[in-house]
This record gives sequence, structure tokens and C-alpha cells, in this order.
Amino acid sequence: MGTETDEETPRDGEDEPRVGDLSLPPYPPNLGHPSLHAIRQMRDLLGFADRAHDTSDVVRLRRPAMGDDYHFAHPEHLKRALLTERGAFGKSEDFRIAFGEGLLTVEGEEWHRQREALRPLFARDSVLGYADGMIEGIERRSRRWADGDRLDLQREFRRMTLDVLFATVLGRELELDGDRRLREAAEDLHAWFVPTSYLLPPWVPTPSRRRFGAAKATIREETDRLLAERRADPPTDPAEAEDLLSLLVGLRRAGAVDRGTFTDERLRDQMVTIVFAGHDTTTTTLTFACWALANHPEVRERFHEEVDRLDGPPTVDDLSNLEVTERVITETLRLFPPVYVLPRVTTEEVAVDGYRIPADSRVFLEIRLVQRDPRFFDAPNEFRPSRWTGDLRRELHDFAYAPFGGGPRVCIGREFALLEAKLALATIGREYDLYWIGENEPDGEPPVSPGMTLRMVEGEEFLVTER
Ligand code: HEM
Repeated sequence: MGTETDEETPRDGEDEPRVGDLSLPPYPPNLGHPSLHAIRQMRDLLGFADRAHDTSDVVRLRRPAMGDDYHFAHPEHLKRALLTERGAFGKSEDFRIAFGEGLLTVEGEEWHRQREALRPLFARDSVLGYADGMIEGIERRSRRWADGDRLDLQREFRRMTLDVLFATVLGRELELDGDRRLREAAEDLHAWFVPTSYLLPPWVPTPSRRRFGAAKATIREETDRLLAERRADPPTDPAEAEDLLSLLVGLRRAGAVDRGTFTDERLRDQMVTIVFAGHDTTTTTLTFACWALANHPEVRERFHEEVDRLDGPPTVDDLSNLEVTERVITETLRLFPPVYVLPRVTTEEVAVDGYRIPADSRVFLEIRLVQRDPRFFDAPNEFRPSRWTGDLRRELHDFAYAPFGGGPRVCIGREFALLEAKLALATIGREYDLYWIGENEPDGEPPVSPGMTLRMVEGEEFLVTER
């Protein structure tokens, strides 16, 4: 009968409730009154996020004076926000206030132009060309470690990765024991986001935000100094340029980009962005990889066997023979993704899992929680590099492992970071045994201090012995 058919096949749009009719996601029932969310979140960022998603992939959390935040913890949500519906999820104003108009924050056509201009510096061939500079930076620092040293490895790696970033992409050698002001500034770029930021809107000038402001001013001054050098000795052909500023000044001079895309002001923002994005992430990856190796003797043994088989210190020619090393890094990035949560802001109202997310809402994509979800990974909290030997990567949801983000805005420095991490770990592994002498948490996890990136608590030490 006609009526039956009509009921079974409703006309377009009749079966879908309008987004505006949907209810907002629930406040998690197990986290107390919403007015306490921010203070509890500030005290234990990761534990709070874990508990918040006990019953739902989409939750709403309250922030005083700033309305509600929305947290998403399913790979499909990541895919929508980063790829299929990325137009509805913009970059957050918070980051724009901090980092101005660099690649990390700009959007639309302007992002497109900047990404295209920077692409040659980060393409695989260019990155392989940095390998010698990377090895030099890694060895120059690690050679100073001596048998029996107790080292704050995170601090060592921070210095090492900054040396490498400056010597390669930024085209300026840092002094091994000098350039203190610049090094401190690079570190202080992380003061923009500390857990108290959950309590205070971005325009409140807290002491850590003022530290951030001073750090940014230092990097901008350095940019001006480097720009003056590049102007005095301009690259003749942008295609030959080997560092960020030479490339961008060269493109500008050759009329290859709209001058508005690379004004001096934008170049300053670009430097701050690359210094911020390009070293702390690799630092924490290396620190947690060393922690994981120290705490898993059976993996460490296989890793040492592999690096001992090399004829000498690793070079680019050895990369394909470093499979165990690569899996150690892959698994470290799964358990301890430096960018553990990605912020976005909705540009329009969206429906997620049957809930309404209003336009202009702060959204947080919970990369760490997705990568530790038992629906996608067996024994998700265990460090098991061997899980990556079979078909896992092919079988996984394409956004269940996303330490570098995804979609068109996937990390531009991915190849750079992976090469540096691989070379550093293999170089160090041939020379030293690293023993963890810090204290783990009762559940066996390392002591972490999440801020802008997921870091080890400052000052934790490893014992270094020569092999
Ligand atoms: C293990 C190391 C690294 C990790 C885990 C990492 C992670 C990420 C993630 C998750 C994003 C996406 C951000 C978003 O969608 O909002 C991103 C973007 C970015 N990363 Fe990385 N990153 C790493 C290393 C690097 C390095 C070494 C550089 C530069 C030398 C770099 C430069 C950038 C830039 C400029 C962007 C913005 C790209 C765009 O929006 O087009 N990153 N990174």
C-alpha cells in the first residue's frame, strides 16, 4: 500500500532531526558539579580527560567566565574536524593571539600560499639533505655525556633539537654553551599555555603569558638580525635557498609570492611558529622513547642489537636498516603524543553523535585518548613496538593514530621530526645505555607534566653508562 511505502521511505530531510533541535552533549556525570570542572582539570589534566570520556566520546566541560568546551575522543570525529568537514572547524583565536600569522594559525587562501611557499624546505629530499647537519648536532652534544652521568635528558634533548633546528631549517649555528637568551626564549614560548590557562581567558596577562610575550620579542629581534644578514647577501635563486628566511626573502625578491604574504611582520611570526613547533615536540618524543626503552629491557635488547649491526654511527644510508628503532618511535608517539590534544573552534553549528555543538565553540580533539582506546589497540596502555610489525596500520581507522594531525594541515615537519628522532636514538643507542632513575607513577606510567605539549616532569634524571 502506498501509505506504507511513504512511511518506509520518508522524503529527504524528514528522518534527520534538525541540528538545532538536538540537545547539547552531557556534562560527564562522574566529574562533580560543572562549576568545579576547570579547577579539577587544572590539577590533573590527563586523568580528568580520561574520566570525562568514561561514558561518552563527546563531552561538554565548563570553564568559568568562558562558557563550555567540547571534547571529542573518536577517530571519526578527528576525521571530520581535520578532513571531511574541516571548514566547520577553524583554528582557535587563542593560538592566533599567541602566534600571529604564521603557518600554524593562518587559514584559507593565506594558509595555502604559506604552505606552498614552505613546502620545498620540508619535502623528503630536502629533509634528507639535512641529515648531516642533524648528525653533527646530535653528536656534538651527546659526545659530552660521560660514564656515570646523571642527566636530565629532556633538557639535553631540548638543547640538541634546538641546535639541529637552527643549524638546518633556520640557517644559523647556535653556540654549544652560549646563545642563552635565545635558548631561554625558545623554551618560554611554551609558557603561553599552562594548566591555569583553563581558568583565565587569553587576554588576562598572567606572569606566564608575560614570559611568553618576552620570549616572542626575543625571537622576533633575532629574526630581524637574520633578515638584515640575508638582505646584505641575498640568495640569487630561491630554489637554491636552504633555510627558511633565505627562501622566503628570495621568493619575495623574485616576485614569486604576493608581498603581503611575506611582509617582515609575517616572517617574524613564521620564525616564532617554527621555533615553537619544531623542537619541543621532537624533544619529548626522544625523552619518552628513552624512558620506554629503559623500562622495557626486552625491547631495549632488540634495539641495541639493531644499532650495533651498523658499521658505524648511523647515516642516511642506514635508515632502512633501523626498523626496530622506527617502531620504537612510532609506539612512543602513540602512547605519548607530544600534541596530545588539538584545539579547534566551530565556525557553524554541527551535529556530533546526535548532539548539537553550537557555532563558535571551543573543541578539543583528544589525540592521546584515541591512541589509547581499547576499541582500536590491544593492551592500549602497554608499550609494544612489535604491534606495528603486522597489518595493524592498514587495518586501523585512518585517524586512530594521528600524532601529526591529519588532512591538509597535517604536520609539515613530520619527515624532519621522524628523521631527527631516528638518527638521534640510533646514535645514542650505539654509545650509551640509559637507565631510568626517576620514579614512575603507581600505574607504571612516567611522571608527566602536560602543558602545550605532553612533557616529562622537569628535572627527572637518567643514569648514563658507556657501552
Ligand atoms: C614529533 C614531532 C612533531 C609532532 C608530534 C608534531 C605534531 C604536529 C601536529 C599534530 C600538527 C597539526 C596541528 C593542527 O592541526 O592544529 C602539526 C602542525 C605543524 N607542525 Fe608539527 N609536529 C612535530 C614536529 C614538527 C617539526 C620538526 C616542525 C618544523 C621544523 C613542525 C612544524 C609544524 C608546522 C609549521 C605545523 C602547521 C602546519 C599547517 O598548519 O599547515 N612540526 N605538528
